[in-house]
Amino acid sequence: MRAKLVVGNWKMNGGLRANAALLAALTAEWNPAADRPIAVCVPFPYLGQAQAALTGTPIAWGAQNVSEHASGAHTGEVAASMLVDFGCRYALVGHSERRQFYGDTDAGVAAKAAALLAAGVTPIVCVGETLAEREAGTTEAVVLRQLDAVLAVVAAQAAQLVVAYEPVWAIGTGRTASSEQAQAVHATLRARLAAAGAADIPLLYGGSVKADNAAALFAMPDIDGGLIGGASLKAGEFLAIARA
Ligand code: 13P
Repeated sequence: MRAKLVVGNWKMNGGLRANAALLAALTAEWNPAADRPIAVCVPFPYLGQAQAALTGTPIAWGAQNVSEHASGAHTGEVAASMLVDFGCRYALVGHSERRQFYGDTDAGVAAKAAALLAAGVTPIVCVGETLAEREAGTTEAVVLRQLDAVLAVVAAQAAQLVVAYEPVWAIGTGRTASSEQAQAVHATLRARLAAAGAADIPLLYGGSVKADNAAALFAMPDIDGGLIGGASLKAGEFLAIARA
């Protein structure tokens, strides 16, 4: 059976006090019998706080980015080995905000995934098309190009990835892909992953997932969970999604 997973991407939100409340609520209320496994991807400065709050609980944590380099003269960057020092199980790579605004390329995302795998951290590889790409009918080509770039570099470890499909036009817009739209793309990604020997990795959907639309999305055969932005900042909403 495929692993279920719901990951919160806090993006550049939070602060020591707000995080403490959120992490405490998650650890108090997450129910292993009823809820999907969850993880939170927090800003780098709060990794230690997440580690302190979540060590010994079933909730995992991770980062939102990583350097493709192991160490050295890369001012402002954070290495995969540093994420290991703070107990990270996961790190996002290729989030559309990084591709759009911070110059992440397909090749760079692949190098980051390889750096994480070499350090023993699970990459959550984000793929997704813009509205213009969808309207041009290139959704499949775009997400497969993004995925193939990673598979080409980490082929032998494809089964250790998590992949998240996040249509750019659905992120933070309140406009979710319909369950059928998301499933169609997930089926395409699943087929490519199966050909790479990674049929059973968790394939997450992200983009305006809320408690009231999560159940329909997660009922789809190839949607194994979610990557949750805004709704992961409220414990009740995030846990309601994990329960959906
Ligand atoms: P929202 O859930 O806020 O739309 O963000 C989705 C996302 O980008 C998660 O990585």
